[in-house]
Amino acid sequence: MFASLAVFTLLALKACTVSAFPAYQSLAGLTREELDAAVASVNFVPPPPPPGPLSDQSAKLVNDAAHPYQPLQPGDQRGPCPALNTLASHGYLPRNGVATPVQLVTAVQEGFNLENSFARFLVYSTFLVNGNPITNLMSIGDKTSATGQDPPKPATVAGLDTHNNCEGDTSMTRADSFFGDNHSFNETRFQNLVKYSQKYGAGKYNYTVAAQLRKFLIEDSIQNNPQFTLVSPRLFTAFAESVFPINFFIDGRDTSGQLDLDVARSFFQNMTFPPDFFRRSGAVSNVGQDVVTNLMPNFKPGYNARGVNTFTVDPTSATLTQPCVRYYNFVNNNIKGLYPNPTGVLKQALNINLQYLYEATVAAGDNCTQVFPYGH
Ligand code: HEM
Ligand SMILES: *[C@@H]1O[C@H](CO)[C@@H](O)[C@H](O)[C@H]1NC(C)=O
Ligand SMILES: *[C@@H]1O[C@H](CO)[C@@H](O)[C@H](O)[C@H]1NC(C)=O
Ligand SMILES: *[C@@H]1O[C@H](CO)[C@@H](O)[C@H](O)[C@H]1NC(C)=O
Ligand SMILES: *[C@@H]1O[C@H](CO)[C@@H](O)[C@H](O)[C@H]1NC(C)=O
Ligand SMILES: *[C@@H]1O[C@H](CO)[C@@H](O)[C@H](O)[C@H]1NC(C)=O
Repeated sequence: MFASLAVFTLLALKACTVSAFPAYQSLAGLTREELDAAVASVNFVPPPPPPGPLSDQSAKLVNDAAHPYQPLQPGDQRGPCPALNTLASHGYLPRNGVATPVQLVTAVQEGFNLENSFARFLVYSTFLVNGNPITNLMSIGDKTSATGQDPPKPATVAGLDTHNNCEGDTSMTRADSFFGDNHSFNETRFQNLVKYSQKYGAGKYNYTVAAQLRKFLIEDSIQNNPQFTLVSPRLFTAFAESVFPINFFIDGRDTSGQLDLDVARSFFQNMTFPPDFFRRSGAVSNVGQDVVTNLMPNFKPGYNARGVNTFTVDPTSATLTQPCVRYYNFVNNNIKGLYPNPTGVLKQALNINLQYLYEATVAAGDNCTQVFPYGH
């Protein structure tokens, strides 16, 4: 399954030859692309499997002495996810914001008690689109050279800021990509979350607020964003993220289900755990999401087809109750689109990561049939 030692040595030799010459020349009868592939290959280590669930899922202090907040250094990556930003700022992830899938699964479990199969699906689906399969690194923010040499286009390896995979429209605290910055904290949008928390949550963010705010954000984007779209896979993250602040940003010793707005701001804007913060007790994922979907029983995935207020249902998109359609379309369209004809170690790396993605659907109990876009 993995590159043999002989192949590895051959590639290493090629790489050494290459590095002795100027980068812009085509050498040794190889095209630039072939040389690039050879150089990339030497760095290939088959990605190890993700960790299983935490053995101890109790609430505990996570803003501890071993994980102090440190301000960003120039070049550090932060992006649209307040949780990953926070984990990087406290050293649960590499502080430069460039991480492996194993580091990501480990960090979201340790720091927030995110349930294992959910964490694995989220990580491998975003990694396959936004990460570098050869170097096994992904930026939690923008595209960066720190993830190493890119595989051939149309692959992008552009980090979590990439629009329309997991990042997408109708975020609570980030603007729609049509309006420009799709990943930085946006005070106007946070103030809207505050307004909804005052109106429906007596000044706290709870499931009732989450539902009302999600409904508003979708209607608002339909009315104001000519390029609005909310289809799978973004559809799934949009609804899950609405309840994540309640499930994960409330201190583990507090079981009220009411999120204080200063605590919310600490995560969303400052990318830091509040002082003395305990993670929740017991691993969960998107509990409470039914409260949100129940407020919009007729909502179907779709997009503005001809400018604002032209919402059109997309029958090809998975709905929230079709996790296997989500998985099939994701692999056959999204991944195949980025990697139409991978070869060599790139194909191996993709197949291994696709295997880990499929295993996450099995662990989640989805009972999907495995698909093999690049053969067995
Ligand atoms: C497991 C790995 C994770 C990945 C790869 C990931 C990735 C992302 C991405 C790409 C976004 C942007 C979506 C958008 O456009 O709004 C996002 C948003 C978000 N994430 Fe994560 N996330 C992960 C785990 C978590 C965890 C554990 C939490 C909670 C503790 C969390 C909380 C949130 C919230 C609340 C948002 C919404 C931000 C907003 O709407 O303003 N995420 N995440
Ligand atoms: C913040 O969000 C609002 C509302 O979505 C948008 O009009 C504004 O352009 C955004 N601001 C920035 C700086 O992106
Ligand atoms: C989202 O933000 C990133 C980083 O600024 C930018 O490169 C990208 O073009 C934006 N996406 C869209 C669709 O505008
Ligand atoms: C949210 O807060 C409001 C106001 O206190 C309350 O009426 C509602 O029941 C709360 N919802 C949940 C799910 O806690
Ligand atoms: C966010 O950081 C700023 C600057 O360090 C600080 O003044 C503010 O109190 C912080 N707010 C929260 C809610 O953490
Ligand atoms: C899983 O799917 C197979 C075939 O699609 C079906 O026969 C089986 O009953 C399903 N199992 C569960 C537990 O849903």
